[in-house]
Amino acid sequence: MPSPLDQAALNQLFLDAHTHNAWQGRPVPDELLHRLYVTFRMGPTSANSCPARVIFVKSRAAKEKLMPALSEGNRAKSMAAPVTAIIGYDMKFYDKLGKLFPHAPDAHTWFNKDEQTTFTHAFRNGTLQGAYMIIAARALGLDCGPMSGFDNAMMDQLFFSGTAVKSNFICSLGYGDPSGVHPRNPRLEFDEACSIV
Ligand SMILES: Cc1cc2nc3c(=O)[nH]c(=O)nc-3n(C[C@H](O)[C@H](O)[C@H](O)COP(=O)(O)O)c2cc1C
Repeated sequence: MPSPLDQAALNQLFLDAHTHNAWQGRPVPDELLHRLYVTFRMGPTSANSCPARVIFVKSRAAKEKLMPALSEGNRAKSMAAPVTAIIGYDMKFYDKLGKLFPHAPDAHTWFNKDEQTTFTHAFRNGTLQGAYMIIAARALGLDCGPMSGFDNAMMDQLFFSGTAVKSNFICSLGYGDPSGVHPRNPRLEFDEACSIV
């Protein structure tokens, strides 16, 4: 039976965790990125559709390729991060449902009716998977710096050309330098954001 995580775990995942802007020199091994993937892929998506596609930009050459797509304010910190994950969503995700949801052979027809339906599901579930990735990264001891300040069309041209994948957001991954963390901004109180009916 699952039991609540202890306070230290909750602090690491949520309460003390911050968005990071500066990075220690400590590298992120490829094995850790594999471990990150096999952890976050278990988060739930509609019909187990798993539409997120991720490129972990790590080499200097790939970082140079990434740079022009970034907004000016995001450039230096992204270049300094050991890894920049580009989280995309596959607009042809339904082609893999035969593997992912085999007990419902017609599942692709739920999602490929028209472009808007496909987009709604691809973006919703791809975004959820991006969020699972952030929490999984924190659970594995990494820090994250998510960003949407970039040119999506240019990013798609540079990294997803010839595919049906579109960029959603990017996320720096590594071991953060706490001196680059911004002060915490307030969150909404329960009554401002939630109700129990
Ligand atoms: C989807 C998304 C897009 C963001 N885009 C940017 C960005 O382009 N540039 C930036 O400096 N921070 C960006 N942020 C960082 C947020 O401002 C930050 O996560 C938020 O203020 C919470 O900060 P905290 O984790 O330190 O409390 C983004 C965060 C998310 C989740």
